[in-house]
Amino acid sequence: MMSDLLWAAFGVNRPDIGFRTAPSPMNTQEIEIYVATANGLYLYDATFHQLVQLKNDDIRSFCGKQGFVANAALNLIYVADFSKLGDRNDDKKLFYAAADTGFISQNVYLFCAAFGLGTVVRDWIDRQVLAEKISLRKEQRIILAQTVGYPK
Ligand SMILES: Cc1cc2nc3c(=O)[nH]c(=O)nc-3n(C[C@H](O)[C@H](O)[C@H](O)COP(=O)(O)O)c2cc1C
Repeated sequence: MMSDLLWAAFGVNRPDIGFRTAPSPMNTQEIEIYVATANGLYLYDATFHQLVQLKNDDIRSFCGKQGFVANAALNLIYVADFSKLGDRNDDKKLFYAAADTGFISQNVYLFCAAFGLGTVVRDWIDRQVLAEKISLRKEQRIILAQTVGYPK
């Protein structure tokens, strides 16, 4: 289920050319999806369609300032790698990163609707703390997070 969700989110749907289920300007593919579960922190590798484990500890409580975040099955963290967006200024980079995160998170919304899961995209995050927890480089920016869980 989680692998299908991630494929729908931003997987490779044209393997011959490596293109994805959501668009990006000139195919920059600058959004990376970090995945926090009870079992650890992972990075979604779309090319090989696998999760790369980055940490063994449960960092869900750092994924947002609201109580439900720490208990939900899954928290996705959408991170833009500004270095993949070339010479554009930071305003333009942020605009593209926000738009592209919108496409990806909407794919997750549709997947969740189809499979009876609950989801919410979230801005209310302590980005500095979370960026440290997931060891981001300075050119990486947290755009939004998205919680996925089983409805009550
Ligand atoms: C850009 C954006 C940021 C949001 N940030 C938060 C947030 O930090 N916490 C939260 O609980 N909901 C957040 N939401 C979710 C909205 O509150 C929610 O979509 C709205 O209340 C409608 O509810 P629904 O999506 O369940 O239909 C955000 C939505 C968007 C589009």
